[in-house]
Amino acid sequence: MNHHNPNPLEALQANVAAPFEKARAMPPDVYTSDEFLQAELEHVFRKDWFCVGRADALAKPGDYVTCDLADQPIVVIRDRDNALRALSNVCLHRMSTLLHGRGQVRSIVCPYHGWTYNLDGSLRGAPAMTLNEGFCKDSYQLPPVRCEEWLGWVFVSLNPGSAPVAEHLSGVEALIADYNMAAYTETFFESHIWDTNWKVLAENFMESYHLPVCHAGTIGGLSKLEDMICPPGHKAFNYHTIFKDDTLKIALAHPDNTTLKGDARRTTFLLAIYPSLLITLTPGYFWYLTLHPNGPGQVCIGFGGG
Ligand code: FES
Ligand SMILES: [Fe+2]
Repeated sequence: MNHHNPNPLEALQANVAAPFEKARAMPPDVYTSDEFLQAELEHVFRKDWFCVGRADALAKPGDYVTCDLADQPIVVIRDRDNALRALSNVCLHRMSTLLHGRGQVRSIVCPYHGWTYNLDGSLRGAPAMTLNEGFCKDSYQLPPVRCEEWLGWVFVSLNPGSAPVAEHLSGVEALIADYNMAAYTETFFESHIWDTNWKVLAENFMESYHLPVCHAGTIGGLSKLEDMICPPGHKAFNYHTIFKDDTLKIALAHPDNTTLKGDARRTTFLLAIYPSLLITLTPGYFWYLTLHPNGPGQVCIGFGGG
């Protein structure tokens, strides 16, 4: 029966109230409705920690990455004291966006009228503003945003009340402690925009059911559905594991790695950290997606690994 429910939140609540054995696909409106997206931004992206990437990609003072988190432009930048800071990425003069994408700067220079900020967000200079008698440079500081590093990941949050990342994700840390995820080095990072709802990618990541068919040409043949372990989800994350075939050497623990024992040496973890950090962690390499909606029908994708 095709039945259109006008309220996607109620449709979702009805859907998830069904027992697991009777689970059905999510109601279509949660992928298409602007009303539902606004609820996601307000209750999820404005409240949760959001991952902007790996800390080792921001190794030197002035290295930065930008993101728009629930309509708030943010820049994460390494300052002169080697600390990572997240700042509002909006100029205090006429609200121009300051930095774009990722890169390296000596100072943050607004592209509109040239106000210049130090890497800690304090205003260094503003052309000709001394002509205004009331102007005091020292009273301008880009507002800080919460920023934390956890196992090499950099997170930001607009929620002053959320628990620290390490506390929030202690269950993940315990699960993969022997992998020493903090030591993984990023060797590539790409940004993409796809014309689909962000949850389509997130849900695709949470099921490796498609590997043997969809990825038959690469890892599909090396991943056995029968060996997959899919425990129930946790409050902050869910995960499943697959064993990689012994022929895929890159996914196995290196002979020098004496920490991982037995099956762990060929176990791949697929970690879905809510809302939108998706990590494939193998003993030999990792890759990840960090997703943010850009309207109901578009997603901004950060794709990195090493
Ligand atoms: S808006 Fe940034 S200097 Fe004017
Ligand atoms: Fe896939």
